[in-house]
Amino acid sequence: MAEIRLPKNSVIDKKAGKVFKSRAKNKKMFEIYRYDPEDAQKTNPYIDKFEIDLDECGPMVLDALIKIKSDHDSSLTFRRSCREGICGSCAMNIDGTNTLACTKSISDCKGSVKIYPLPHMPVVKDLVPDLSVFYAQHKSIKPWIQSSEPENPNQERLQSPKQREKLDGLYECILCACCSTSCPSYWWNGDKYLGPAVLLQAYRWIADSRDEATAQRLDDLEDPFKLYRCHTIMNCTSACPKGLNPAKAIGNIKQAIAARKA
Ligand code: SF4
Ligand code: SF4
Ligand code: FES
Repeated sequence: MAEIRLPKNSVIDKKAGKVFKSRAKNKKMFEIYRYDPEDAQKTNPYIDKFEIDLDECGPMVLDALIKIKSDHDSSLTFRRSCREGICGSCAMNIDGTNTLACTKSISDCKGSVKIYPLPHMPVVKDLVPDLSVFYAQHKSIKPWIQSSEPENPNQERLQSPKQREKLDGLYECILCACCSTSCPSYWWNGDKYLGPAVLLQAYRWIADSRDEATAQRLDDLEDPFKLYRCHTIMNCTSACPKGLNPAKAIGNIKQAIAARKA
């Protein structure tokens, strides 16, 4: 029987973290995953605990991270940009759920707030996962319009309202990777299975009336690993912070492949 073990240096060192206490009345503890591959002293990850005065902090988990970085530990590393749930860069695991730190309210977290990087991805540093494979997979589905009609600088490529409606629930994807990193099939086969985010993006172009490469796109996806590793477990749909339904998009691709065989 196959024996699956985590690498030795992935185990959290429970003795290594530090604790910052606050004397504030209205305070909250944040327990944050720390890992620096260049730190020769601490080879394993550890948890730092920071108590924050909530009267001196904005309402979102990202506000607390920014405060911790500016007031307590400038080495704390995380990605963020828009603070509006649009760029997708602040995706992380907060209180056991993949979500966006900028739209997750501190008041929604009961007890101390536990913050980890997106699960089952290599960690670059602290809360920053290595998304290079994820981005390469996105590139592989050719996320742009393919059309034999040359671009006209004076005229947009037109769609009827009905054709445009087909992109609703797809174009809003911000590629945060919350869904893919919550998918068990992606955890085990992330090198070959495209995962829910990239498959939703693939369907976004298949559903686009202006694109002429539908047959080629479906040919490329008709693969036991790229597409059919989805077993409809639906974690992806529950995880999406934008309320999208990647599992449905995957079902639509499978239907489109089946329909052309009928
Ligand atoms: S429905 Fe498919 S893509 Fe979504 S979590 Fe399940 S296996 Fe993964
Ligand atoms: S489908 Fe949702 S969770 Fe997945 S990448 Fe897009 S926005 Fe993020
Ligand atoms: S900072 Fe852009 S989505 Fe959170």
